[in-house]
Amino acid sequence: DAAEKGGYEHFMLKEMYEQPKAIADTFSPRIKDNDIVIEELNMTDEEIKNIHKIMIVACGSASHTGMTSKYIFEGMARIPVEVDLASEFRYRNPIIEEGTLVIIISQSGETADSLAALREAKGKGAKVLGIVNVVGSSIAREADNVMYTWAGPEIAVATTKAYSCQLVALYLLAMKFARVREKITAEELKSYIEDLKRIPDQVELLLNNKNKIQKFANRYLAAREVFFIGRGIDYAISMEGSLKLKEISYIHSEAYAAGELKHGTISLIEEGTLVAAVLTQEELYQKMISNMREVSTRGAFVLAVTNEGNIEVERAADYVIYIPKTNKYFTNSLAIIPLQLFGYYIAVGRGCDVDKPRNLAKSVTVE
Ligand code: G6P
Repeated sequence: DAAEKGGYEHFMLKEMYEQPKAIADTFSPRIKDNDIVIEELNMTDEEIKNIHKIMIVACGSASHTGMTSKYIFEGMARIPVEVDLASEFRYRNPIIEEGTLVIIISQSGETADSLAALREAKGKGAKVLGIVNVVGSSIAREADNVMYTWAGPEIAVATTKAYSCQLVALYLLAMKFARVREKITAEELKSYIEDLKRIPDQVELLLNNKNKIQKFANRYLAAREVFFIGRGIDYAISMEGSLKLKEISYIHSEAYAAGELKHGTISLIEEGTLVAAVLTQEELYQKMISNMREVSTRGAFVLAVTNEGNIEVERAADYVIYIPKTNKYFTNSLAIIPLQLFGYYIAVGRGCDVDKPRNLAKSVTVE
């Protein structure tokens, strides 16, 4: 067991450290001469131009990468996206019109609800693309096309590297679609590709900050609940940050779209409640800062995760973690690293079985 963990205390930590390589393995074979080449996609440019809608269906963390990508497909490629939980999609008699691309995202490729959703979508005539990590798994076999995430085997129940690779696979698809549909120029694509190539080193840098995050986490081992807030793409990452924390540490936590706080959650804020605010979208900084003030004036302790250079945030936060510069679509790949480390160190500090949290399975093959 110790040998398998390669010197790390847990598989989860080992897998977090494997992220730079896994991310690079996922994009490298698909970048050729400043272009995105996804051979497995098997779609002509004509077919890509004819996509009217994308439906993304998944469970758990995979659905959070779907949420992130909604903002990217819509923002960059201008294709409308619906994201569904697989267990909901299959029972709501979904309307699938011509020109709909269904994307099923799954690490294991065996999640029962996701597989059933795939069959439902195919039965209704959709073209189905699987974004899958386990080669030859059921979803990989039954999808019309499969794009693999090259994360390698993931053992810890809480996903880290597979999640990061799913994000990258979705970035590649969005970039490809955006370029074919002429929503971005060749120059813009080149600049996105450069940003993508920088992500592995940037992730490494964030991982090397682990001691700072461990120290911070140790102050919150007794927390009763934690709130994660963000807007837009940062709301999607708040959901993942919240899930990471609660599934392995058993501290209740909730992710909230920051603008929605005042419609409910703010009544739960008390003296000392920890609120993690993610703000990576420049055009939303001011809105986020006022949301942070709303909670801090009610006694919350505010941890902010934001872009390097956004020093204004220090006036509204008690503790700030900066992430390196990238474009507005790729920030989730960086902001998730401190949130993964935070969840991990809280769970370790509370003596939880980090790799095998109670009641959870790595892959849920029954309904
Ligand atoms: C389980 C795991 C989660 C995972 C979800 C979907 O609940 O504990 O970490 O996100 O299944 O799994 P999949 O293999 O389809 O990505």
